[in-house]
Amino acid sequence: MFDTLPMAPPDSILGLTEAFKKDPNPKKINLGAGVYKDEQGNTPILASVKEAERRLLATEQNKGYLPIEGHVEYDARVQELLFGPGHEILASTRAVTAQTPGGTGSLRVASDFLKKHFPMARLWHSKPTWANHGAIFSAAGIKVEVYPYLDASGRVLDFAAMKAGLAQIPAGDVVLLHACCHNPTGIDPTLDQWKQLAELVHERKLLPLVDFAYQGFGDGLEQDAAGLRELARPGKDLLVCSSFSKNFGLYGERVGALTIVAGNADAAERALSQVRISIRTNYSNPPTHGAAIVAMVLSDPQLRKQWEGELAAMRERIHKMRRLFVATMKSKAPQHDFSFLSSQKGMFSFSGLTNMQVDELRAKHAVYVVGNGGRINVAGMTEANMGPLCDAVAAVL
Ligand SMILES: Cc1ncc(COP(=O)(O)O)c(C=O)c1O
Repeated sequence: MFDTLPMAPPDSILGLTEAFKKDPNPKKINLGAGVYKDEQGNTPILASVKEAERRLLATEQNKGYLPIEGHVEYDARVQELLFGPGHEILASTRAVTAQTPGGTGSLRVASDFLKKHFPMARLWHSKPTWANHGAIFSAAGIKVEVYPYLDASGRVLDFAAMKAGLAQIPAGDVVLLHACCHNPTGIDPTLDQWKQLAELVHERKLLPLVDFAYQGFGDGLEQDAAGLRELARPGKDLLVCSSFSKNFGLYGERVGALTIVAGNADAAERALSQVRISIRTNYSNPPTHGAAIVAMVLSDPQLRKQWEGELAAMRERIHKMRRLFVATMKSKAPQHDFSFLSSQKGMFSFSGLTNMQVDELRAKHAVYVVGNGGRINVAGMTEANMGPLCDAVAAVL
């Protein structure tokens, strides 16, 4: 039956990682995949996570199933992290959270929920966005559209164009926004711009869906949630797709969450009852281990403090690499200005490298960068590889 199946192309980002692994060049540099790396080029297991695992191993009583919506304490802690303890949304219990396998699982559960109950709603995402966004919503049968994001230079948010694009969207459609550390550009709206976006989205009766995959990687846990909290207006609906892959380094444990904020507690319970059906018919219930770690770290004051310190160290290292890259490029290719990179947020930036330059970087210098804008993962840079990396970039420029 399968002899005549066409071969599907490799995933644009994960395929690059596979190619990187196979490259025998000992000096190869991976700025492709969206994984944090430390100064030694490793993706560390956080000490707070290790300690939580140690405690879990010592105390766990069984390997039973979790409820369909996952680990109860985890779900509550996720809401606190999103909105801050004591927020009106928490007090009114008009938010419900379901633990999902990663942020991707959350996006997929959200898209199934939307398709089933709002079959005519379209999903609008920024152009550009994370490569998987359009694919996930399309796979659920949702029509996907785009709104403008960057200006012609590709280095600055074109806020007027973004607002004009959003103002054209019909009521009832869904608008996907990145809470912080926009992937792939690293360019976020300012707080004042978030206020305007919140005003516009709610006035136009659009449903905001906020993808929150990098909380704490931009300016801090609270600061990075500021845009989301602008959208969280009294009585207004909102979806949040969280991922703890990056900020807890729990990539392979698949830890995410879908939070639905409804107009009132009753509507929220109805929504959760429908989400349960989507989960039950998909993967039945989520895996325990990763969520148990996050719940423990967030609830234990000592582990929480340790985690916040480790998260700050990751964030600061990324900022440091941004500054070092800008300074090194200035010395190696002063005619090309990369200073725009230092104000961008999170792991990613659009380098502005053309597809031809990206190909040449890989073929001649074993430097791996995602095409279509030259998305670079700044966390792949280290003090040790900065010199050779900037030499290679200068050569292809
Ligand atoms: C913007 C964005 N959303 C969602 C995800 C998915 O995260 P996860 O690995 O938890 O599925 C990613 C991962 O790269 C991402 O960059």
